[in-house]
Amino acid sequence: MKVISQVAELRMLLKNARQANQTVGLVPTMGYLHEGHLTLMRQAKREQDVVVASIFVNPLQFGPNEDYAVYPRNLERDGELAAGAGVDILFTPRVEDMYPQGYENVLSFVEVTGITKKLCGASRPGHFRGVTTVVAKLFNIARPDAAYFGQKDAQQVAVIKRMVADLNMDIRIVAVPIVREADGLALSSRNVFLNPAERQAALVLHRSLELAGDLLAAGQRDAAGIKAAMAGLINKEPLAAIEYISLCDLKFLEELAEIESAALIAIAVKIGKTRLIDNRIWRG
Ligand code: PAJ
Repeated sequence: MKVISQVAELRMLLKNARQANQTVGLVPTMGYLHEGHLTLMRQAKREQDVVVASIFVNPLQFGPNEDYAVYPRNLERDGELAAGAGVDILFTPRVEDMYPQGYENVLSFVEVTGITKKLCGASRPGHFRGVTTVVAKLFNIARPDAAYFGQKDAQQVAVIKRMVADLNMDIRIVAVPIVREADGLALSSRNVFLNPAERQAALVLHRSLELAGDLLAAGQRDAAGIKAAMAGLINKEPLAAIEYISLCDLKFLEELAEIESAALIAIAVKIGKTRLIDNRIWRG
């Protein structure tokens, strides 16, 4: 595995790969790799000739009061894990490599409107603009055939698919199912912030999604009733504070009153100081 931090060097390597008719898969990450990230990398390796994974904690997608400064980092360990998952090129740019003028001075953004104001967008203004801008930059640098994203961040997948469709980007977006711990907690780099009591309390996210699935399977169709049941379960956990519970359609993320064919059930819950998200897709 090659580790590269220079944009020009990555471009050159990938130009050679494309000239040799090799397909390129891109897996964008912010590092502190876990089994969720590694699953994306392994799938990319099964489907593409050359796999590029990026590790870049993107300052543009963090709000002023968010965890950019303390976001967990461990490049050395990440390198070993990525190599083990079949990554051919690990792209680890510094902030100056991605934003040579300084990220505070960026003048050009890629912004998806509408669906970025819902769910996580409501409490994280500017977050998705930061995500789409850095992902568009990575797409322009690597020019991959396909890019791999986790369904863990369901809204991110919807936003990136929309960006690619609206802007005619010739890149296939592959959504990979959520990877969970044995007890149901969705893997996340932010799980390291949880102390043992919070780690236990965090199980309430997955449990509430299972409850919603059970109610739907039993024939309940009104979203308000399902949300109330989920909120009741989560509120029994003293360390948990609900940010949102949403039952929405998969594409436009519009809240549904009645669940008919398919729905995204998505939640954001603060466990202590740590904000966690989880979701499941229900298909009737
Ligand atoms: P990050 O949070 O590091 O996640 C990188 C990728 O791993 C995302 O596509 C995310 O959905 C996926 N992922 C994380 N946890 C997962 C899990 N438990 N199961 C499956 N996939 C999982 O998402 C970002 O970084 C950034 O916003 C990024 C797209 C890199 C842009 O900066």
